[in-house]
This record gives sequence, structure tokens and C-alpha cells, in this order.
Amino acid sequence: MKLFVIGATGRTGREVVQQALARGHHITAFVRSPESITLRDKRLTVVKGNATDENQLAEAIRNHDAVLSALGPREVFKPSSLLHDSALATTHAMQRSGVKRLVILSAAAHFPGIPNRIVSLILRNHMRDSLAMEEVVQNGGLDWTIARPPRLTEQDYTTYRSREDAAPKMGFSLSRKAVAAFMLDAIEQKKHFHKIVGIAK
Ligand SMILES: NC(=O)c1ccc[n+]([C@@H]2O[C@H](COP(=O)([O-])OP(=O)(O)OC[C@H]3O[C@@H](n4cnc5c(N)ncnc54)[C@H](OP(=O)(O)O)[C@@H]3O)[C@@H](O)[C@H]2O)c1
Repeated sequence: MKLFVIGATGRTGREVVQQALARGHHITAFVRSPESITLRDKRLTVVKGNATDENQLAEAIRNHDAVLSALGPREVFKPSSLLHDSALATTHAMQRSGVKRLVILSAAAHFPGIPNRIVSLILRNHMRDSLAMEEVVQNGGLDWTIARPPRLTEQDYTTYRSREDAAPKMGFSLSRKAVAAFMLDAIEQKKHFHKIVGIAK
């Protein structure tokens, strides 16, 4: 498949790119600093652009089978509308380009429960932005899947548990490798259309 990755220079985004290449896909990494992608592969194309610029995205997204976004603010405590603005630009660009499939990362803290309420309070600026992003995605007229992982780790495994509309029980963390595997599985297996999916170790 031909996959378009937003946030490809991030810790989860890099995993998405590496695993997608290993699975035989063609990747376009849409990044603001191409020099930070050191990986070289004949199936990897790097395109410089701004994740909130609808016109740049629409031009670059054309002819892809799906879009994966692992975008996130570098400073989670500061007020930001990056996720919302990028979701708006991405969904509009996808509509214009005729690309329907979107798998995007959000956060398990949006699920109910006291620990999630505490995380949401501590990270309130980020969580507000991420919830606004989810709304845009759900109303964007696309075949979307929103993945909500808990705390992300650098551990070396790709297995995960998933549950539609709820968090997997007692799932407090997940490796970024496993998040990437889930996002790619959802696309390859045509699963979780129009669903918020809780994922965890
Ligand atoms: N950390 C956790 O424990 C956790 C838990 C649950 C959910 N999540 C969610 O998972 C997502 C990915 O997390 P991560 O830790 O893999 O992220 P990360 O390593 O911080 O990477 C963030 C990515 O977003 C890009 N980005 C940031 N600001 C940007 C901007 N203004 N314009 C364009 N691109 C920008 C970065 O590009 P540059 O390389 O150019 O900066 C990078 O590619 C986040 O949305 C986060 O909310 C995280």
C-alpha cells in the first residue's frame, strides 16, 4: 500500500515508518524538518511541509491509500491547537484528494475513570487539543480510526490488546512499537472503521 505518515520524525512516527517499510509498503513521510529523517529506503519518500497547511497536505496526500498521524506537541504543558488545526487541515486535504482512510493517535486519558481524570487535569491543555482533534476527525466524512493508548514506552514488543469504545482492562502502558503495529494492522486488516479504540499492553 501507499501510506502517508504525519509526525514521522516523532518517537511513534519513526516506528510507524520502520514497520511499514518492513511490511513492504511505500511510505511518504510528511515532516517539517526532512534532515531529521536519516533512514534511507527506495520505498520511502520524504516531503517537507507544515502539518497545519491544508494546501500542502492536499498536494502531497493525493494517490495514497491511507494516512496515519502520530503528531504530538513537543511541549505538552503549553496551550496549543496543533492537533486540532492539523486534524482540520488533514481531513479537508483528504477530502479534496479523495483519500478516505485515516488512523490517528489520541490518548487513553479521554476514557472515564479517576486515574484518567487526574492525567487529563495535569495535561489539560494537551487533552483539550486532543479532544478537539477527535471531534474534527469524527465529523470529517472519512473512514477514520482513533487510537487511544495509555502512557507510551520505548519497550521492545509489538503486541497489544485493543477494545472498541473502551480501554483494555488494567492497561496502563504500551510500547510505541506496539502502537505502530496497531495502526498498521487497522489499515491492512480494514478494521475499526468509525471507531475509537482503546489499546494497551
Ligand atoms: N507520550 C505518551 O505517553 C502518550 C500517551 C498517550 C498518547 N500519546 C500521544 O501520542 C502522540 C505521539 O506521541 P510521541 O511521544 O510519539 O510524539 P513525539 O515523539 O513528541 O513526536 C511528535 C511528532 O509531532 C511533530 N510535531 C510536533 N509539533 C509540530 C508542529 N508544530 N508542526 C509539525 N509537526 C510537529 C514532531 O515533529 P518534529 O520532529 O519536527 O518536532 C514529531 O514528528 C501524541 O499525540 C500524544 O498525545 C502520547
